[in-house]
Amino acid sequence: MPAKDELVSEFRSTLKHCLNVLETAMGDPAQLAELKALVPKLNFTGRDSDGLPGPSREEYMEPLLNAYYFTRYGLAYAFEYSVIYDAIMRDIAQSDVPPVTNVAAFGCGSMIDAWSLAYAKKKLEEAGVTNMDSLCLSYHGFDGAKWDVYFAGDKAVEYDANGDPTGSYSKVNECFTVRDVSGGMVMKMPWINGFSATGEGVDIAGVFTDPGYRDAIGDCNVLFFPKILNELGENTLGDVISGIRDMAQTGCFKQKEIYIAISHSYSDLEKGHALNYAKRIYEAFNCNNEYNVSGTVFQRSPFYPHQFGLRKIDISPSVNSDKELYKFYEFYKAEGDYGPYSSPVDVFDKAFGGQLKDEISEFDDARIGNHDIPGYKRMISRATYIAMQVIKLTKR
Ligand SMILES: C[S@@+](CC[C@H](N)C(=O)[O-])C[C@H]1O[C@@H](n2cnc3c(N)ncnc32)[C@H](O)[C@@H]1O
Repeated sequence: MPAKDELVSEFRSTLKHCLNVLETAMGDPAQLAELKALVPKLNFTGRDSDGLPGPSREEYMEPLLNAYYFTRYGLAYAFEYSVIYDAIMRDIAQSDVPPVTNVAAFGCGSMIDAWSLAYAKKKLEEAGVTNMDSLCLSYHGFDGAKWDVYFAGDKAVEYDANGDPTGSYSKVNECFTVRDVSGGMVMKMPWINGFSATGEGVDIAGVFTDPGYRDAIGDCNVLFFPKILNELGENTLGDVISGIRDMAQTGCFKQKEIYIAISHSYSDLEKGHALNYAKRIYEAFNCNNEYNVSGTVFQRSPFYPHQFGLRKIDISPSVNSDKELYKFYEFYKAEGDYGPYSSPVDVFDKAFGGQLKDEISEFDDARIGNHDIPGYKRMISRATYIAMQVIKLTKR
């Protein structure tokens, strides 16, 4: 696996690629018109086939939408996911379970969270955190859309159909794809041992009941929902939950300790939906009443409980329960003229700042000043809208 600095430079080159795509689009009337049509989708003013606001599968595969998505969210999401994986890996490393972090990410998109996983691990190793060297990573990402941008970095190695390296590097943002045993698309990246990610055409509603995926999911000890739950309609969510319940009832989850991680959409928390997602997912896992639940994993984070760092928030203070299902973690906020705000993410980790952040900021200033793309929003560079939840289940 590359060193931490190499991962950071791969991440930045992918974001720079996105900025270049946007800059080119500004000089081409056809692309600019396309961008204008796509931007509002990420403001959740569009409608997908399930009746939910948000981009459709086809729109998620648009290179221009990908480019805008990452200039807007890339720094914040990569930071947030690295905080989540950091806390989980610290917890695993001090436990007496086997030292593995086997991730299944649902709605993985570009697999930016896989980058964060690799980055968080390298950071922990370089900080000399005990047992980190021996912790093995594996990652399975599931998504219905094959994104144009992947955080493979320019050192991504091509693999042939047997899964063997061809000896050449794949191009930036292109990963060589092969078929897995169940016929699904698989991507391989060099920075995570045993890395694989299913690609195009996977429906989250079906992965928990698909025999080809059940074994892989059942071996995982981290089940991550990175900004997807708010995009699922009631029917799809119902299928996800009944699939998880079916796996639990038939003893498919093999790990003694399982982390259910959810990166929430902050605005959705206010509507109260998030409370239900987490609760229903947990109840499906624990339908046999075989797990103890704990929500203190983030207390292992170096940002907890520092001033301006992480704090625990009760989603529903009116619910008289000590259950972690009703709590999430966010970064401390201050109240200003424009509402609540928290520190820029590069205050917490300077990898998520620097010249690239300035370049994106300049691009944003011009767009917002010129009003040339209605609905265009600046990149998120503060930890303002971060709302994370990790529920740890331990088999009794
Ligand atoms: C907001 S994006 C998040 C992507 C990625 N996790 C990230 O943080 O950038 C939501 C993702 O969920 C995927 N998605 C939504 N509904 C899905 C479904 N029913 N099956 C598979 N993927 C789905 C979309 O294709 C999209 O990639």
